[in-house]
Amino acid sequence: MTDRIVLAYSGGLDTSVAIGWIADATGAEVIAVAVDVGQGGEDMETIRQRALDCGAVEAYVADARDEFAEEYCMPALKANALYHDKYPLVSALSRPVIVKHLVRAAREFGATTMAHGCTGKGNDQVRFEVGIASLAPEMKCIAPVRDLALTRDKAIDYAERNSLPIATTKKNPFSIDQNVWGRAVETGFLEDIWNAPTKDIYDYTDDPAFPPVPDEVIIAFENGIPVALDGQKVTPLQAIQEMNRRAGAHGIGRIDIVEDRLVGIKSREIYEAPGAIALIEAHKELENVTMEREQARYKRLIQHEWTELVYEGMWSSPLKRSLDAFINDTQEYVTGDIRMVLHGGKATVTGRRSDVALYDFNLATYDEGDTFDQSAARGFIEIYGLAAKQASARAERAGKPVF
Ligand code: ARG
Repeated sequence: MTDRIVLAYSGGLDTSVAIGWIADATGAEVIAVAVDVGQGGEDMETIRQRALDCGAVEAYVADARDEFAEEYCMPALKANALYHDKYPLVSALSRPVIVKHLVRAAREFGATTMAHGCTGKGNDQVRFEVGIASLAPEMKCIAPVRDLALTRDKAIDYAERNSLPIATTKKNPFSIDQNVWGRAVETGFLEDIWNAPTKDIYDYTDDPAFPPVPDEVIIAFENGIPVALDGQKVTPLQAIQEMNRRAGAHGIGRIDIVEDRLVGIKSREIYEAPGAIALIEAHKELENVTMEREQARYKRLIQHEWTELVYEGMWSSPLKRSLDAFINDTQEYVTGDIRMVLHGGKATVTGRRSDVALYDFNLATYDEGDTFDQSAARGFIEIYGLAAKQASARAERAGKPVF
């Protein structure tokens, strides 16, 4: 039987050419796998048909938008996941769900190898291949751009010679990856890190310099998950989409950073993630109100580790699974409402309420109704500072600087 290869297919020039390119180079049959993670653009049926027209023997398409929102974006929200304290892991979250469908398609169609269109310089190749190795250790991987010398010029040439139904003229200087959690733009003139991004780079956000009137939103969370906006019940997918629209109108979630890739390269990235940034801001504040102090402190370490692991392609690793268990446990009381004002590039929390808050007005107040026993503070401070005091006294006796 002829070998079969499942290809992660986007519908664009490179992966369309890759179908024939891989078949020519390996003699295998190619099955195109397209996964809708909310990237927008062409509909999946058009993409399916193009794959077949480009020579795929089968085309597998999946609407994974709800699955992506529920099983990938929501864990990232619970983890307040921001790589370099800024980037909400947009691409890093979508690769594992694409991998899951690649494996499913491979089993359905009897493929032994998977292929992706990544170069040899980025994180995504690692995420695909480590992901495959974790879910289907018996599968092999190839990357036509990296391993079979498929360059952009060769792709254009190949598409024209074979009259593939794909535009080769549209010159987009950027490499763009987008899904419902956000959008990543790189390469082109952005590689000169002194160059400011131009207006045409943005798509999910409007210019925050000219915002419409402030927009107030109340986000209701249950166990760390947004369940209603302004009293209207929403699914996780709807919550992200709606917040993308509303926060995007105010230019929230524009990010311009030089980040450390796993392969050692520093790279300049422009991101837009209006919904993700607003939701994370709201979620963090609800945690401030409802989470016990020591648990919250430890969670900050755990979520940092979670974020790095996911960025580095370890979505399906034992450590990540254990950290998920911890993070999920911390969300037991992260239930309540956050009020935010969206305006001029910022999502600002202006109110919080929760039936399970640990905030206690009577403990906090400086007015009437104070139930905090201030006389107990004296003894507490004496014991709390005792070790430091002892050490300083010793330094003095030894004639050394106290600190
Ligand atoms: N640097 C980001 C990451 O590794 C974004 C990658 C976007 N991929 C792309 N093909 N443009 O998560």
